[in-house]
Amino acid sequence: MKLAGKVAIVTGAGGAGVGGLGVTYVQALAAQGASVVVSDFDGEAAERVAAGIVADGGRAIGVRCDVTSDDDIDAMVRAALDAFGGIDILVNNAGLARGKWNEMSTLSREDWRYIMDVNTIAPVRCSAAVRPAMQARGGGCIVNQSSNGSQMEAGSYTVSKYAIDAVTRVLAAEFAEDNIRVNGIAPGMMTAKMPAAQVQSLLARQTVRRQGRPDDLVGALLYLCSDDSAFVNGQTITVDGGMARIPNQ
Ligand SMILES: NC(=O)c1ccc[n+]([C@@H]2O[C@H](COP(=O)([O-])OP(=O)(O)OC[C@H]3O[C@@H](n4cnc5c(N)ncnc54)[C@H](O)[C@@H]3O)[C@@H](O)[C@H]2O)c1
Repeated sequence: MKLAGKVAIVTGAGGAGVGGLGVTYVQALAAQGASVVVSDFDGEAAERVAAGIVADGGRAIGVRCDVTSDDDIDAMVRAALDAFGGIDILVNNAGLARGKWNEMSTLSREDWRYIMDVNTIAPVRCSAAVRPAMQARGGGCIVNQSSNGSQMEAGSYTVSKYAIDAVTRVLAAEFAEDNIRVNGIAPGMMTAKMPAAQVQSLLARQTVRRQGRPDDLVGALLYLCSDDSAFVNGQTITVDGGMARIPNQ
């Protein structure tokens, strides 16, 4: 029970999308003894995931929160404090991926603003909102969900995830005085539902020759959310079966 007594918030954890990595994250944190706030803009989905954790003997609440709304973020923080009395861990997982987000020059300004808002700015807003509660506990851990897409070419998605890696470094410096560490995870193809040919071409780029699974991220998550990584800050760990490599190396 690495995280007994800790309180964790995970955004985008309702599993309403295609991948559902946030569900794996809240279940893994709860299994290590953390009380978890399952947050998603689909409030019913969040409550369903939380109910499943409670049924398995864990501690969880579901909260509706659109991470592009500061009011929703403040309400999410209040709900966490009311239910569990503090906040130690924030995982900024909510994100837009696939489809038109993998394009760039075809996107409208409005679409550009939206993906940057959800994937890049919202993690900053959520981090700022939990900072006082983490200060009150003497510190905390924030994990930003990046993507190995930040190291490749996948349209506005790449830009938003490249930017979140910079957010991770800058926030780590800004929050250092409060003993709040900020790191990131850059998953590869963990869940993507895509045409078989595309799956094969991505698998061929990996040096671990099997498809990723959401569970493959749990080791990195628990490492970054616990004292095991006490001397690690501002880093983004790529967990992608060796798919993304710096060209010519
Ligand atoms: N699935 C993968 O293979 C993969 C790979 C690399 C990175 N990622 C990243 O992991 C994260 C989760 O991805 P996923 O595949 O599980 O996606 P998903 O679409 O299954 O989950 C995203 C969740 O975020 C929620 N969400 C979307 N917009 C929101 C908003 N404005 N406010 C609050 N919640 C919102 C959705 O309801 C959904 O539950 C994303 O940041 C994604 O970029 C996923």
